[in-house]
Amino acid sequence: MTKNYKLAQWLELRIPYDAQGRDSIVEASCQQYLKKRKSLKIVDLGAGTGANCRYYLSKISQDQEWFLVEQNQELLEIALDRLIIWAQENGYESQLQNSRLVLTNQVHKITIHRIVGSILDLENLIDLNTFDLAVANAVFDLFSEKQFQTLLECLKKYQLPMLATINYTGMNFIPQTDKDSDFIKYYHQHMQRHQYFGRGMGPECGSLMWEAMKGIGMKVLQGESPWEISNSDPVFLEFILGFMEESIPEIIEKATLQNELNTWLLEKQQMMSQKKLSCSVTHQDFWGYWE
Ligand SMILES: C[S@@+](CC[C@H](N)C(=O)[O-])C[C@H]1O[C@@H](n2cnc3c(N)ncnc32)[C@H](O)[C@@H]1O
Repeated sequence: MTKNYKLAQWLELRIPYDAQGRDSIVEASCQQYLKKRKSLKIVDLGAGTGANCRYYLSKISQDQEWFLVEQNQELLEIALDRLIIWAQENGYESQLQNSRLVLTNQVHKITIHRIVGSILDLENLIDLNTFDLAVANAVFDLFSEKQFQTLLECLKKYQLPMLATINYTGMNFIPQTDKDSDFIKYYHQHMQRHQYFGRGMGPECGSLMWEAMKGIGMKVLQGESPWEISNSDPVFLEFILGFMEESIPEIIEKATLQNELNTWLLEKQQMMSQKKLSCSVTHQDFWGYWE
């Protein structure tokens, strides 16, 4: 299985958890703000396979024009296929016009553009003067504080509001066992390890995003968007443990710790196969706008 195929599979699996978790007050506040506009032009930052866009398509009552900005071209190709399937399932005709996907039914028209590029280069990719909204789902815990600040400065320049959902803030396994807190701590350290762009905000993104958005002069509404993963979803739990198994060895040095990790993972696998393991993951949603 290629890395992107696996990532795409993960992004699809998390859709129902994201949908359940999203904070309804934060979302309603954004909808209220936009309700008088005749049509909406929206940029989805870090769009992946288009799951965030697909989530909003049927929640918006106006005609819509979407720009999916994503650095990973292969994910955007998968996004196209999934949007076409979404259209079939939701009573829309779909047509590929040049590289745009146009979805129509008797009432609405939805146009979707895919743009391979970086969120940090947004101004050079699209004309931000013409947009109503930026959305981003599950992206900013990957960003450094500086990258997020750069994005906010760009949004400020164009007075573009942003709905940023499912920003990771922490996790715990249920029932909790001895070494959980150690390995979750290492997992978080891996998210915040030094990378070419600096350090990702990881589990601190909630408080850092709040401060940065307030600091730049946005009006901000924040809400919690947790996932509750029950013991009857081993596939999803397997993914979470898999991420930990892959990442933690990159930052632990001692061989003894690697052995402890293997033992801990084995214990978790056993609990999972006996349907005795569940997991909570916490996130925060933000609606930021300008007055
Ligand atoms: C966890 S995925 C979420 C994808 C999608 N928003 C969703 O909800 O399914 C994060 C995505 O952000 C993209 N990403 C991260 N940094 C980016 C950047 N600087 N520019 C564009 N895309 C970026 C990644 O390639 C990845 O597809």
